[in-house]
Amino acid sequence: MALRKLVAGNWKMHGLSSDLAEILEIAAASQQYENVDVALCVPAILIERASRAVPDSAIGAQDVHHAEKGAHTGCISAQMLLDAGGALTIVGHSERRNAQRESDAEVKAKSEAALACGLTAILCVGESLDQREQGAAVSTVLAQLDGSLPERPASDAELAVAYEPVWAIGTGKVPTTVEVGGMHAAIRERLISRYGDQGRSVRILYGGSVKASNAAEIFAVPDVDGALVGGASLQAADFLPIVAAAAAAQPRAE
Ligand code: PGA
Repeated sequence: MALRKLVAGNWKMHGLSSDLAEILEIAAASQQYENVDVALCVPAILIERASRAVPDSAIGAQDVHHAEKGAHTGCISAQMLLDAGGALTIVGHSERRNAQRESDAEVKAKSEAALACGLTAILCVGESLDQREQGAAVSTVLAQLDGSLPERPASDAELAVAYEPVWAIGTGKVPTTVEVGGMHAAIRERLISRYGDQGRSVRILYGGSVKASNAAEIFAVPDVDGALVGGASLQAADFLPIVAAAAAAQPRAE
């Protein structure tokens, strides 16, 4: 058995109705790559229209609240996301961990809420530049995992982990393939020690300045089961070559 690669786009706060055409183009062209899962996490307000426009594609959110409902002004629950046609959500992106001061405990609750609804949860972890320079990259990421992984991976919903070094996001800087491989191996080991054999089937994505020119070498690293792509996911012309690189990569034996 081998894990399929997952290439997920994170549109962040980009995208208007006029960009639905880009989503259509990405969805249509992605269909030729039958061995890759492709997903787009768009602004919440576009989810329903996007999922109606491309019903066979995975459209998702960039965050959900952990509660089912209640007095949480401005927030969206996992059930609402599902109701709008969403299939997945990112949780614990570093931009939210930093700007919204989301704690590991909150991220854990969000991942559990998403999985409980049957949504795929892409849980983000990653160290800052300071932490890497101090030699604390692996310990930082493992501590984030310990605090924010759901109690157990659901049997009918998918958990994925995205390793996104904060200093690589939107900067054009990427860790070496040795650094990526070392971190993904450490994450895999922690997933197995936490979930047993089920930890082997959790996809581990790399994120941070992934683009057409570096995708193939990143996908060739053991335990890189896909990518979370920000800037290069906004245009079909930039994103599709990344999907093609994933399709051409050798699947990892489980
Ligand atoms: P980037 O963003 O690809 O623009 O670096 C990745 C992310 O933040 O998920």
